[in-house]
Amino acid sequence: MIVVMASGNGSNFENIVQCGIKVDLLVTDNPDAGVIDRAERLNIECKISETKYESIVPKNCDLVILAGFMKILSPKFVARRRVVNIHPSLLPSFRGANAVEQSLAAGVKISGCTMHWVDSGMDTGEIISQSACRVLESDSVSTLTDRIQVLEYELYPRKIKEVLVDTQLNIINI
Ligand code: GRF
Repeated sequence: MIVVMASGNGSNFENIVQCGIKVDLLVTDNPDAGVIDRAERLNIECKISETKYESIVPKNCDLVILAGFMKILSPKFVARRRVVNIHPSLLPSFRGANAVEQSLAAGVKISGCTMHWVDSGMDTGEIISQSACRVLESDSVSTLTDRIQVLEYELYPRKIKEVLVDTQLNIINI
């Protein structure tokens, strides 16, 4: 069983589904999240809880995929489940919220995204893979975010499939 957790727009969630990963359940902590409409349209079960989001994720799920989930998960939750995340910077640089703003403020010339295992820290888990792009002089938070998201849409489903194949979970429709 594969669970996605998301708090916002949900473009990565939809992209993962469209790329053939069989998502069984979407969990969100935000009753106003755009991702809820996407789940309905994609016919994927959705559970919403602002506080009990951890307890509605089954303990026996094979993989938990974070896709713009904005809360830190408890040590107990991550110790019992395999959890991956996508982050809009080249970790270990620019952890936490506002990673794109932090990158622009620091004046970096290369940015990108990082897929990593989730531990109980904030964006501190082992790195699985990264994709990089240039940062342009003219970039705003919006233009750089858009360029990074293009990388995310390619990297995240491809590496999720690798993780699932590595663990011999036959739950991909390639
Ligand atoms: C992604 O771009 C990812 O980097 C970050 O949250 C964003 C979520 O965007 N973790 P969306 O909701 O998938 O559009």
